[in-house]
Amino acid sequence: MAKDIARRGFLTGTAALAASAATGFACVEIASAAPITVPTVDRLDMRVLIDSAHDQFLKPATVQGVRHLPPGSGRGADYRQVLHNQWGLSLFLQTKRAEEERAILLDFGYSPDALLNNIDILKVDAARIDALIVSHGHHDHYGGLTGFLAKYRERLSPELRLYAGGEDNFCHRVSPTPVQGQFTDFGQLDRRELAAHKVKTVLCETPTVVAGHAFTTGQIKRRSLERMLPNTFVERGIKDGLGCDATHYSAAELQGKIVPDEHVHEHATCFAVKGKGLVVISSCGHVGIVNSVLQAQEVSGIEKVHAIVGGFHLGPAPKDYLREVVAEIGRLKPDVVIPMHCSGLNFALEAQAQYPENVIVPTTGSRLVFGA
Ligand SMILES: [Fe+2]
Ligand SMILES: [Fe+2]
Repeated sequence: MAKDIARRGFLTGTAALAASAATGFACVEIASAAPITVPTVDRLDMRVLIDSAHDQFLKPATVQGVRHLPPGSGRGADYRQVLHNQWGLSLFLQTKRAEEERAILLDFGYSPDALLNNIDILKVDAARIDALIVSHGHHDHYGGLTGFLAKYRERLSPELRLYAGGEDNFCHRVSPTPVQGQFTDFGQLDRRELAAHKVKTVLCETPTVVAGHAFTTGQIKRRSLERMLPNTFVERGIKDGLGCDATHYSAAELQGKIVPDEHVHEHATCFAVKGKGLVVISSCGHVGIVNSVLQAQEVSGIEKVHAIVGGFHLGPAPKDYLREVVAEIGRLKPDVVIPMHCSGLNFALEAQAQYPENVIVPTTGSRLVFGA
């Protein structure tokens, strides 16, 4: 019942927004609230397009059935061109079910120069992309998006959609400074640019099937021991056609105020791999990596966790808290844990100490293959 009421509020608020065609809100769709049928794939082939580092000496390995094919030299045909690394994440996800293939681009790194450069070097066939997903409203995950669209939009389907976790992904973010009450700008995802590139946004507060092969968790319940670690602050509301309409999920008195960011609509991207179980990809994991996996299990009805992948936002975690979360992840019994981006070196070391047979640490350019 509570969900129905919340959803009615959501629909009312968004209908009002849709009337404002000039701002880009007319390009918004709302994911159906009907239960989804979780698709299964035979294979998921993941390419790390952007992460913080590149290691040309990584060796190929198979860990609990997951193949890690390292990036090698990372050079282009012209040796002066090399993989770019930056704070941010972008993953190219190719899947296969029998003869049917799909490709999804999940997040877009911090800047388009790195994304476009790495797409070239890694010989990614970007024209094959069936859908785009953005994990949450941080620039290190959507920063390369409009540059990507400027180069590739015309080669992609006219029906191309961006699957966002919800309206909160579009809110203005700011970072605190040592001076109380003063902040620096951290940007906002510009839906006017998406509209200009004729990309429809689907707001996925509820679980959503993407390109017939993937599914998103929808809004993630906070139910584990995890807590929100310090990150950005958020300003809710709309100014000059930018920002977010937070009226259906945020108290009226908070509109226009700057408050600690709880990433209300961060969502995880997931796959059910035949004979293996769930692959859960958390891009920044502000809402908690354990929470994200529990949500994926609830949404799919699948208990078995094959892989937990992505940014877990534990770099800034205090030691005791880190140890507890790593142990909690272990209790989910994943075959492999694959930390990237903001997970932190501290996480990788603790995970390798607690379950040394189940950790893969990839870099920019790595390829990870799950399933047949
Ligand atoms: Fe991030
Ligand atoms: Fe983030």
